[in-house]
Amino acid sequence: MNDHSASATHDNRVCIIGCGRVGMASAYALIQSSFIRELVLVGRDRERTEGEVMDLEHAVAVPMKSPINVINGSYADAASSSVVVIAAGKATGGSDTSRLDLLDANAPIVREIVGKLKKEGFDGVIVMATNPVDLLVQVALEETGLPTGQIVGTGTLVDTARLRGMLAEAFDIEPRGVDAYIIGEHGDSEVAVWSGARIAGVPLLRHSDSGEARDLDRMLERVRRAAPEVVRRKGHTEYAIGLCVQRICEAVLRNEHAVIAVSTVLDGEYGRTDVCLGTPCVVGKNGIERIIELDLDEEERKALHRSAETLRRLNPRLSA
Ligand code: LAC
Repeated sequence: MNDHSASATHDNRVCIIGCGRVGMASAYALIQSSFIRELVLVGRDRERTEGEVMDLEHAVAVPMKSPINVINGSYADAASSSVVVIAAGKATGGSDTSRLDLLDANAPIVREIVGKLKKEGFDGVIVMATNPVDLLVQVALEETGLPTGQIVGTGTLVDTARLRGMLAEAFDIEPRGVDAYIIGEHGDSEVAVWSGARIAGVPLLRHSDSGEARDLDRMLERVRRAAPEVVRRKGHTEYAIGLCVQRICEAVLRNEHAVIAVSTVLDGEYGRTDVCLGTPCVVGKNGIERIIELDLDEEERKALHRSAETLRRLNPRLSA
């Protein structure tokens, strides 16, 4: 086991703070990638974290893996990473808890974590996975004073994946043939952008078998209910969000300029500057490089504003 910072270089080092289900699913996804060299875990429970580090070390020793140094680390190790993933805090427990209900419990935790990172001089990219993710990106931005683009919320990436999976199944093609986004809150008020969705390059709404509006409504409802339905059966979600975290880290570390639906503070897009929510963004080595404003029809525009208002109403509680 390696208990200390392995090198002064930041490149290809990712740190995960919070070694619960989401943190560890992210870790497991990250060690499958050939682009990271060091993975730092920072957990509250020292022994448990040590166990996780050992288990991952055994995994990376499997011959087909490229070598990755797994470190049971400190905040100093975290601060020298190019990307820090925050996955600490409470998760939605019951199938009917909303992610927004976690704000009071998780805001102080995130505030403490980013405060420590700031004290250690961290100047890399933060990937926020803790819920309610949109609001916690704002908390982290306020607390650190980092440039907006450096804090990337996992946002509606996982919802977008769920939607694409459902559309792919409905049209009997693979998910990569589906171009569609969920935007807005990562939660109950999120919005499907049907008007811009394309299946194999053809607008969804032009497909004769796209079904009636109520089928699309039903599909959006299934996307919204996806996580609670998993939680009801197994108690938590982990794998899909773990791969989303890995995807964002990869886009940053490889400076991909990848278009990914993540959560960020809007800068006039959709006519708003006062709220952080999920929308496609260009993600590269400095985090979010550009926000992409999708064309919305009237109904989608109204739904997005309702979603933005849901989040904005909770803003005063952010600095509490
Ligand atoms: C989910 C959690 C991450 O949607 O909110 O799986």
